[in-house]
Amino acid sequence: MDLQIKSFADYQKTYQYSVEKPEEFWAGVADHFYWRRKWNKVLDWNFKDPKIKWFEGGRLNITENCLDRHIYKLGDKPAIIWEPNDPNEAHRVLTYKQLLEKVEQFANVLKNNGIRKGDRVCIYLPMVPELAIAVLACARIGAIHSVVFGGFSAQSIADRINDADCRLVITSDGSFRGTKTIELKSIVDDALVQCKSVERVIVLTRTRTPVSMIKGRDVWWEDEITKVETQGNPACPAEEMDAEDMLFILYTSGSTGKPKGVVHTCGGYMVYTGYTFANVFQYQPSEVYFCTADIGWITGHSYIVYGPLSQGATSLMFEGVPTWPDAGRLWDIVEKHKVNILYTAPTAIRSLMAAGDSFVDNKDLSSITKLGSVGEPINEEAWHWYDEKIGKGNAPIADTWWQTENGGILISPIAGITPTIPGYAMLPLPGIQPALFDEQGNEIEGNGVSGNLCMKFPWPGMLRTTYGDHERCRQTYFATYENMYFTGDGCLRDENGYYRITGRVDDVLNVSGHRIGTAEVENAINMHSDVVESAVVGYPHAVKGQGIYAFVIAGNHHTDENLTRQDINKTVSRIIGAIAKPDKIQFVSGLPKTRSGKIMRRILRKIAEGEVSNLGDTTTLLDPAVVEEIKAGAEQLRG
Ligand code: WTA
Repeated sequence: MDLQIKSFADYQKTYQYSVEKPEEFWAGVADHFYWRRKWNKVLDWNFKDPKIKWFEGGRLNITENCLDRHIYKLGDKPAIIWEPNDPNEAHRVLTYKQLLEKVEQFANVLKNNGIRKGDRVCIYLPMVPELAIAVLACARIGAIHSVVFGGFSAQSIADRINDADCRLVITSDGSFRGTKTIELKSIVDDALVQCKSVERVIVLTRTRTPVSMIKGRDVWWEDEITKVETQGNPACPAEEMDAEDMLFILYTSGSTGKPKGVVHTCGGYMVYTGYTFANVFQYQPSEVYFCTADIGWITGHSYIVYGPLSQGATSLMFEGVPTWPDAGRLWDIVEKHKVNILYTAPTAIRSLMAAGDSFVDNKDLSSITKLGSVGEPINEEAWHWYDEKIGKGNAPIADTWWQTENGGILISPIAGITPTIPGYAMLPLPGIQPALFDEQGNEIEGNGVSGNLCMKFPWPGMLRTTYGDHERCRQTYFATYENMYFTGDGCLRDENGYYRITGRVDDVLNVSGHRIGTAEVENAINMHSDVVESAVVGYPHAVKGQGIYAFVIAGNHHTDENLTRQDINKTVSRIIGAIAKPDKIQFVSGLPKTRSGKIMRRILRKIAEGEVSNLGDTTTLLDPAVVEEIKAGAEQLRG
């Protein structure tokens, strides 16, 4: 069996086969990877516990698949092209050979610092090649990485470090983002006040901002590399891992206040990310592939690092932001490195579209053959702009739908092979069995229907548990519908059987493609000393997709509402990070609650959306009058 699907008929045949004989199908896919020892059993599962095991007994190391196995043929091929924040700084290229050397070197640094198989390592780094190197070095020795996105606060880092009992943190002095310098080490220092498990911090030099280095705990990345060099730069053989050993933890938001550590394992994740990368983007050996995500999110894990590298691809990594020095930066990068495949998020597309066509019209984008979109629903206007201005009408767009918990893409066009419709994720990839359910738990069959999106059957890349709390994993994903994985998304299946994701049906927001739980934001707002209570909902935002709207009951001793708003924003930035700051804060004297004390978010959502004419039934409210007050306040806020 070929790894890549070649035609629509081939897709249909492969899909059919993958549903009829899933184990045979996935064994065939897994045969395209390098295993030290073959598995005994392809799949062992039930969604009740849940128990999900793929390729049990199989032994491997994912870095041998991403690096070693390519050296003979592709040793001198660029594995990573790195484009810095500042276009005047030189870009860097790491060939597969060089990347392997650096990964082994840093893996030895980790070992020298006492890290062994199974230890948890927190990584808080900017988008520099060393981030990919650190991730792969952990995988090399079987340490479990937990990457924390550089936009999260000290408190968020501390929560994640403590939840996973990390022994070591890898960070840098600072990071560059546009004109800003962010002091990462000092944020880590604040976090570590609360973290007993951390014995060592490795600090990379990037911005050379002054940092405090604590004797006995903090060491410089560069010094540690020198030590390994003076030891004669020994190789670092890959640790042999079981297919079901943990590869990494990545925290993500849900409908409760506390982010959960999604756990992915070595074998299944490798097979799934590699397979989906090769297929969705139809990667060809000479192509340059550019994913604009941050490695701090799942998209970066799966489609900057593991997926592309396991397929011997050239993966371009960008440190900066799409709008600096101007809104043409991504197109400059495409032109400079002759990028063939571009994978980005609707928020980026919308903000560049809003900046005007002058930033793109004079750029040579002729190298582009395929486009991808990820992380949030793409509106038709943005889809068409992407298609016409960037793809020049002949680069297929893969609108890829998936989640942190999925490991890789589940529903998406296969570029150039399966059909596309603006705003549609279209068809499930082989091995993926979507099903729609109504609120009562009945499956909705047939076409031209909508419902809550579930998966009937496991796939190798799916989460295995939530770190340290298996029951939470069961509750969140496997308890809503019997024997189903529940995604939390609503979905339409049109007359032709094509899927269109309609957005979250739970209390999770998607702001600029970042997942944020409303409960999490409420908890942070409620930390502010003047806040009595708050309720957070999403509302449509022209660039971010969704904005954060907070209704806040505050103590009345503050006369300047705007100052209080700023204080609340500051509090949220401290507790979660700037990405969770509300876009709008409306002060209210009460919240619409049922007699049992439940906040009726449906009403708040409508008010935030500006749809006040039809609020539905408000007679069950404890105090219907509060709704009128909130409506008037919202009107005022809109100005
Ligand atoms: C949303 C990102 C519409 C969805 C890879 C999902 C999308 C959540 C799409 C997961 C898409 C992701 N169209 N919605 N193509 N891709 N989503 O975990 O609501 O950061 O549940 O994973 O983003 O976000 P996460």
